[in-house]
Amino acid sequence: MKFVVAIDGTAASGKGTLGKKIAEHFDFHYLDTGILYRIVAYNLKYNSDFSKISKQKVQNSLKLLNNKNFNITNLRNEQITLRASEISKNKIVRDNLLLYQRNFALQNGGAVLDGRDIGTVVCPDADVKIFVDADVKIRAKRRYDQLVKNNKDLNLKKIIDDLSKRDNLDKNREFSPMVPAKDAFLLDTSNLTVEEALKKIIVIISKKFKK
Ligand code: DC
Repeated sequence: MKFVVAIDGTAASGKGTLGKKIAEHFDFHYLDTGILYRIVAYNLKYNSDFSKISKQKVQNSLKLLNNKNFNITNLRNEQITLRASEISKNKIVRDNLLLYQRNFALQNGGAVLDGRDIGTVVCPDADVKIFVDADVKIRAKRRYDQLVKNNKDLNLKKIIDDLSKRDNLDKNREFSPMVPAKDAFLLDTSNLTVEEALKKIIVIISKKFKK
């Protein structure tokens, strides 16, 4: 059985949390495609010239993901987050991550992929497409509340600026920019709890897929 749910959206919009919960609910496979861009960013030397990224380097980065000793929490820091957005405009990177994502989507048992271009480029024939967004101040406040326990120096204004910067890079790049697919359901979670957003998505998917 093949069934693909594409969840795209802005940075920190909650698409990852929703994607995981949807996959659990329907017992589908789940892929956070942002992690692929993050691992390529991590695997490049800090002084490397983004325009000279090779196919080999991208493929070696993917191998690192399967290394059990590799701790993926390393990929969530501020520096890697911004670099991931910067390298994601490179066509060699995008082209060489495409097959991995498509193979994942088409495996048996149903798949949920979250990212920026899943409904437009990676899986244009996805069975369900959702584009998640929320006011940037609300997204930043949610992130602030998550992180403040472990970091008393957090600055809300800086989080707003970082999210806006990343959204702008992702929206305005030449290849596969972040844009809702024409047939995507637009979900604004500004005034919704995770449970409320999840319920709405489950209703949409259930119209096409019977558990
Ligand atoms: O989803 P995320 O925040 O972990 O993604 C990190 C960056 O990776 C994001 O700013 C842009 C890039 N990305 C992308 O270009 N296409 C995707 N499908 C997923 C992520």
